[in-house]
Amino acid sequence: MKSPFLKYAFVLHLTTAWLLTCTLTIAAPGESTLEPGAIWPDQNGVHINAHGGGILLHEGIYYWFGEHKIAGPAGNTAQVGVHVYSSTNLTHWNDEGIALKVADEPDSDIVKGCVLERPKVIYNAKTGKFVMWFHLELKGVGYSAARSGVAVAEQVTGPYQFIKSFRPNAGTWPINAPDEMKRELSSAEAQAIDQLKLAGGPVPNYPLDKIFRRDFAGGQMARDMTLFVDDDKSAYHIYSSEENGCLHISQLTPDYLAPAGKYVRVFPGRFHEAPAIFKHHDKYYLITSGCTGWAPNAARSAVADSIWGPWRELGNPCVGSKEQTNVTFHSQATFVLPVPGNPNAFIFMGDRWQPQNPIDGRYIWLPLRVVDGRPQIEWRDRWDLERPGK
Ligand code: GAL
Repeated sequence: MKSPFLKYAFVLHLTTAWLLTCTLTIAAPGESTLEPGAIWPDQNGVHINAHGGGILLHEGIYYWFGEHKIAGPAGNTAQVGVHVYSSTNLTHWNDEGIALKVADEPDSDIVKGCVLERPKVIYNAKTGKFVMWFHLELKGVGYSAARSGVAVAEQVTGPYQFIKSFRPNAGTWPINAPDEMKRELSSAEAQAIDQLKLAGGPVPNYPLDKIFRRDFAGGQMARDMTLFVDDDKSAYHIYSSEENGCLHISQLTPDYLAPAGKYVRVFPGRFHEAPAIFKHHDKYYLITSGCTGWAPNAARSAVADSIWGPWRELGNPCVGSKEQTNVTFHSQATFVLPVPGNPNAFIFMGDRWQPQNPIDGRYIWLPLRVVDGRPQIEWRDRWDLERPGK
């Protein structure tokens, strides 16, 4: 390199390359960095509006479905519908619009002003359709309806057509009910339960083995919920039932549109809400919450060798100070997402609800690992999806 010009050009080239490398090195972490609890802007700079949500990975793209909330207390009812976003990396999200719209017709089950919560979408390879289930409360009756809604779409982002709402498993006994319990309640027994004024939370005299019998004919109450597709493509609906006192795990028909008529009662009297489920090394794990409404409480976890149980509680999966773990880092579970290509990496997805201004609800996504057979969730101010251990 004799010529001073060439030398100068070479130095310039090196400097540019170095600067570029620095820029890339500095920019790279941002590409896969999550900041739990911060404002999470979509591609338009608007905070993502998909609360109580879940993720569907379809053909290499992640779709995040969740409740669209509006500002102010009215935002606790469904004014718009279910919002969907897409992403290829779980950190940059594109607004794909409203997947399921609430209805304008006053006689529709999903009329504007109903309560439409915790929507989850799964893909049915046999029918080629996308199937959404959600917790539905009919307009104006608080949380007493406790129904499941089902909607279906040809395209992943919708539009989803609402099909029906109902209480699942009418006329079906749970597979783990002993024969002597397979009797409907007398009206006097049902009235005695009414006197208890059950309001969705634990009470000392909760009737452990009566509510599913009371609801046998009309169908089982179904509130907080999730969906799960197993390796063999059978799908399950997991919901808080029996006045929230007991979880049900209920198989879906092969088209995923209805209960298949087989379900199990899990943890009667323990009042689990916010179920999220994942599978790891052939075991099934549940992450749930207790029942304290919008206020956060301590998460719980459980394990089973079969989805039908027996299920065993494993305690609070959160690791940290009491202030953090007693309130699940100020959040409530909604979904657990396996990280593709990394067999022991999951993302715990929780909601930090803001009931006074629901549109400002925040997303608490944290690394979840199974350590010695127990799920563990740890707080991170910021973390890199590609290096969840850091
Ligand atoms: C929570 C539940 C939410 C919502 C809320 C209403 O416990 O997980 O989805 O239903 O209660 O108070």
